[in-house]
Amino acid sequence: MARAVSSTTTRILQGTASNAATVVSAHKTPFHVNWLVERLHTEAVARCVQTHAVGRLLDVGCGSRPFRDLLLAHTRAAFGVEIDRERYGRVGAESGERLVAETAPNEDVPQPDAWADGMQLPFGGGVFDTVVSFQVLEHVPEPSQLMAEMARVLAPGGKLVLTAPHIWGIHEEPHDYYRFTPFGLRYLAQEAGFEVEEVEPLAGYWVTHAARFCHYLQQFEKIGLHPLTRPLMALSQVTCLLLDRLHPVYSDAWNHLLVARRVPDTGAA
Ligand SMILES: C[S@@+](CC[C@H](N)C(=O)[O-])C[C@H]1O[C@@H](n2cnc3c(N)ncnc32)[C@H](O)[C@@H]1O
Repeated sequence: MARAVSSTTTRILQGTASNAATVVSAHKTPFHVNWLVERLHTEAVARCVQTHAVGRLLDVGCGSRPFRDLLLAHTRAAFGVEIDRERYGRVGAESGERLVAETAPNEDVPQPDAWADGMQLPFGGGVFDTVVSFQVLEHVPEPSQLMAEMARVLAPGGKLVLTAPHIWGIHEEPHDYYRFTPFGLRYLAQEAGFEVEEVEPLAGYWVTHAARFCHYLQQFEKIGLHPLTRPLMALSQVTCLLLDRLHPVYSDAWNHLLVARRVPDTGAA
């Protein structure tokens, strides 16, 4: 996967919420892989963004920006930075050419505001009031460096809202380096100059079980077994959601959400 990195800091810092594009989210049902985890992740992100996001926000590793409308609804401006231009970049969109990416199948998909490496953010210290980063930390070879950069660009007292997987299959190869326990997330955040407010498991064992089972089933769709796999996905996701509510075992959470506050006197800026 080629990674084109360029600095468009000026354009970002002059941007406003008014140039937001509308993201049409995928309409998944229990018959689709990841329906359950995406639903739980979206609910948790929405709750935290509503509570913590303010002012000028940066989304690090924004991808196709699935949360852009939500972020804009609670902030003055929401900017996205992404490293993978080959996957998410739009070639000549204004002249009607097609998007490059499989993951960005139509021109309604909003572009990142800047192409840059999260471990070397092209911004001055303390210029954002909120930083969010969803499912990105496992993809960087030096997660402590990403945390340090997010702390650096946050104003003192600014909030970080981050999610990262604990139990999940290998994805986005070869850029899939780590999984995180709640203690690891807390450590990384504290080392970077954050005061941790919350580390929340996004459900427990049964949801993890359903998610992994659905991914196992998905391989059989390549040989046309959808009529078998889809009902099994629905049955497992709905049943496991109920079982998880009856008996949540958080040591086997698939994912965690971290909320942390940039400590004013870290000297990181
Ligand atoms: C699992 S995707 C999540 C995308 C998006 N945050 C979301 O929630 O849909 C991980 C993203 O992190 C991006 N990424 C990986 N390494 C990065 C880096 N060093 N700097 C910025 N983004 C990075 C990837 O290109 C990819 O878009």
